Amino acid sequence: MELGKCIIDSPNNIRINNLYKAYDMPNDRLEVLKGLDLKVEQGEMIAIMGQSGAGKSTLLHIIGALDRPTSGSVHFGDLNLFKLGRGPLADYRRSSIGFIFQFHNLLPEFSALENVMMPKRIQGTYTNDDFGKELLDLVDLNGRFNHYPSELSGGERQRVAIARALVNQPRIVLADEPTGNLDGSTGTMVFNLIEKIQAKKKHTFILATHNVKLASKCNRVLKLENGTLQRIHGNYV
Ligand SMILES: Nc1ncnc2c1ncn2[C@@H]1O[C@H](COP(=O)(O)OP(=O)(O)OP(=O)(O)O)[C@@H](O)[C@H]1O
Ligand SMILES: [Mg+2]
Repeated sequence: MELGKCIIDSPNNIRINNLYKAYDMPNDRLEVLKGLDLKVEQGEMIAIMGQSGAGKSTLLHIIGALDRPTSGSVHFGDLNLFKLGRGPLADYRRSSIGFIFQFHNLLPEFSALENVMMPKRIQGTYTNDDFGKELLDLVDLNGRFNHYPSELSGGERQRVAIARALVNQPRIVLADEPTGNLDGSTGTMVFNLIEKIQAKKKHTFILATHNVKLASKCNRVLKLENGTLQRIHGNYV
């Protein structure tokens, strides 16, 4: 795919330019991202690999506006994210981003279905549970709507978390080691579901993972090293 053409064709692409992120510590300044560039097309599924501490989670948090860069820009379509005020940036985070974390972070006192619907309640757009049920069905949890997290297996909890990340129909799904605490076959099963949903819903999917096998199923695989991204598999960074 020719890069210039992609940008024109895809109104909701992500364009990251010259991104720096440093953490100021009492005696030290830790530079994690050092002039990182990245373009992601709408509907692409990309994997970001790299050693522990390389900055994968840091990068996902910045794309998801959970954290701010030290300098550089992140564009989502026409939006220049870190030039937005707090309100519009929170709107972007709530409506355009779905986050799947390594640990599911489900609320223990709510059922599977209630957990899935929680982002809608927070956003004030809850009307009924229909879409939550559809999503739980999509992740093969049809019979588990009323189970509490403690009544679900690890893989099932992670699938509830995937459904929850999708309930606001985000354009971008950020998955930070979503299969990291699952055994190999459950991890593959969860990933296959992510892939199936992606094919159907056309979200842009950015996955941080240490799992080479899962990464190789993505359209592109990039490695985060020395604060920038290198291409491992695919056409471009
Ligand atoms: N809030 C923070 N304050 C200071 N340093 C931080 C902070 N968050 C992360 N770091 C440091 O930044 C570096 C990158 O962290 P990050 O969590 O992005 O790594 P990662 O690539 O996701 O690693 P892993 O594969 O272990 O999840 C690490 O060395 C970490 O110690
Ligand atoms: Mg991480």
